[in-house]
Amino acid sequence: MIRAKCEVLSNRRAGVYYSLTLVAPDIAEQAKPGQFVEIAPPPGREFLLRRPFSIHQASRRGGWAGTLEVVFDVVGPGTRWLAQAQAHDVLDVIGPLGRPFQVPKELSTCLLVGGGYGAAPLYFMAEELRSANKSVHMIVGARDHERVFKPIEGKRLANSLTITTEDGSMGETGRVTDLLADVIARTGSQVVYACGPNPMLRAVAEHCLARSVPCQVAVEEMMACGLGVCWTCAVPLIALDGRGWWNVRACTEGPVFNGARVWWDRWLGPKSGEGPVAGSGEGFDAMPESQTVEAWPG
Ligand SMILES: Cc1cc2nc3c(=O)[nH]c(=O)nc-3n(C[C@H](O)[C@H](O)[C@H](O)COP(=O)(O)OP(=O)(O)OC[C@H]3O[C@@H](n4cnc5c(N)ncnc54)[C@H](O)[C@@H]3O)c2cc1C
Ligand code: FES
Repeated sequence: MIRAKCEVLSNRRAGVYYSLTLVAPDIAEQAKPGQFVEIAPPPGREFLLRRPFSIHQASRRGGWAGTLEVVFDVVGPGTRWLAQAQAHDVLDVIGPLGRPFQVPKELSTCLLVGGGYGAAPLYFMAEELRSANKSVHMIVGARDHERVFKPIEGKRLANSLTITTEDGSMGETGRVTDLLADVIARTGSQVVYACGPNPMLRAVAEHCLARSVPCQVAVEEMMACGLGVCWTCAVPLIALDGRGWWNVRACTEGPVFNGARVWWDRWLGPKSGEGPVAGSGEGFDAMPESQTVEAWPG
């Protein structure tokens, strides 16, 4: 993990998002898909905590060598400030943080499922998978066409790209999860990687678990320190043998987890129409039997 003063190379609009490129050779050298960086606000701001962002690209070769790119949506004071960053500004950045996605050893057909800006780290992963000779399929979804992230890039990188928008303004109408079964069947996908809003991750993970398809998810949980100290970012994970659970830190043990092992009901609350989850320490009974499967192959 490196702390660096990074010069802003550019900060451009990408649909409704911002795409921030930083000169960060040491972080770029180590970064892997699924990891994130934390960017500090400048001194004197009313918000003190660093803000976490997934790494969209880390370039080690070519014209962009030594640069790091993150993509963000403006949702509050931190991202509003970051949207104003200009070329030659210098930002205080820590990274790469967290555990990355794993490339499967044997399985060869991979499906990447991204929602909104959550698709950003999956392009980096697509490159990693392709360089490991895997075939790569993608579903990229969003609320509307302006939030579909880099569809042309997706087309370039993936063997097949399916786009879906909730309002039907681009691609299929609906959510990524509406198309998951079809795309998995059509492409013969053996492994799924997902990044996006937590309810989407839950739906993808549950779908995959029910069909015994290994699935890794990159989760977003509130982070105060981002360094494993404060436990703000706790996510309940089911034990490998299914006989217990414990809280783990999304910033250090995650943000990438085996989707089959996240105890979604406990973490996000029961889905509407379902009963309450068991309280602390009483949870083992509430664990669905199927969730005890250790689905990730290595
Ligand atoms: C590992 C990780 C990777 C992330 N990657 C990206 C990314 O690539 N692009 C991007 O736009 N955002 C990403 N986020 C979310 C991003 O960190 C928050 O949107 C940002 O910190 C909000 O800061 P703010 O000051 O603008 O808003 P705040 O005033 O802090 O929050 C505004 C809204 O955003 C929500 N929010 C705040 N922090 C988080 C958080 N950590 N996770 C989820 N929601 C949050 C709050 O509940 C609130 O509704 C990531 C978060 C994590 C934990
Ligand atoms: S954010 Fe502090 S431990 Fe994860």
